[in-house]
Amino acid sequence: MSSNHDLTPATSSAPAHGDASTDVARRESGPLPERFENPGLPPHVDRLADTDPKAAKRAERQVAFLFLLSIVGTVLTITAYFAIPLRDQSEEQILFWSNLLLGLGIAFALGGIGFGAVHWAKTLMPDHEVVEERHSIDGTPEEQADAAQILRDGVGESGIGRRPLIRNTLIGAAALAPLPAVLLLKDTGPNPEGVLAETIWTGGTRLVTDPTGDPIRATDLVVGQVVHVQPAGIEEADHFLDEKAKAAVLLIRLEPEEVAPEAVEGSYGGIVAYSKICTHMGCPVALYEQQTHHLLCPCHQTTFDVLQNCKVIFGPGKRPLPQLPISVDDEGYLVATDGFDGTVGPSYWELERDRTRIEEEA
Ligand code: FES
Repeated sequence: MSSNHDLTPATSSAPAHGDASTDVARRESGPLPERFENPGLPPHVDRLADTDPKAAKRAERQVAFLFLLSIVGTVLTITAYFAIPLRDQSEEQILFWSNLLLGLGIAFALGGIGFGAVHWAKTLMPDHEVVEERHSIDGTPEEQADAAQILRDGVGESGIGRRPLIRNTLIGAAALAPLPAVLLLKDTGPNPEGVLAETIWTGGTRLVTDPTGDPIRATDLVVGQVVHVQPAGIEEADHFLDEKAKAAVLLIRLEPEEVAPEAVEGSYGGIVAYSKICTHMGCPVALYEQQTHHLLCPCHQTTFDVLQNCKVIFGPGKRPLPQLPISVDDEGYLVATDGFDGTVGPSYWELERDRTRIEEEA
């Protein structure tokens, strides 16, 4: 839609005060006109499809072809998604074909609708220039009724009622196009399937400092001290980095009477050990406020109260940090007496099911 609004001189092109050469030019050409002349609209030029019914039919078929292409793209995406199941160990060749077919499918699905709509508008929809005078933004009820009527006329003129081929293929393409997006929701991440529920900690594993790997005597810790801890021998574990990430622990020495009643059994002489992995989204909880005994996750500020067995007292986290039960071995070094008393890391939908399965297997 074009407009024949009167144009006023752009302020940015006004000469700067004190510019001598511009002042001279202005004196010679006289004062600036108040308003520019309206150049008017160029004459309307009909398109081929406006005058040739055959061209219009051809354009209609092209639009329908593009919408059909979109349908094919959507079907291709869905078929490729199910026909090429991906596993962690999938070969590179399989990944290549999966990515290629999914990419092409989505490109055709969305591109078909987009190009079809543009081609439809450019070749078949009316392109008469329309003049609209500038007016105040608020429309009167009559103007609003006019606008609604224009909209209705536009729908009528688009020919969607008269061109069932375009209408039906567009409806088909638009209805199917969102399906790949819904499908891809299924791939928002692997199912943890107990991966988080089991860590390398077992009864008898020594607690060693992270990263130096030194064993820790209970008598070495003073009240208020915090130590970052990992299991001894973690370097030899399969998937070393995964296991290390899950097994990270914070060791804190409290006064024995400060330990929460439910945590006493898993503590040793006021020393408590908790998972360092935030139960919100898995960031390391590494900020300990010695005065308040709060552990703070820097990512979204979930705050755990050590004196309440690391219960969440603030923030988006929902579960307490799992406790690692500890004691000392014959040489006085701290050891775990079992695995964590809960699943480490963020919650996930299958958490309860995994916990039940592990308890049944134990
Ligand atoms: S990951 Fe810890 S608060 Fe979000």
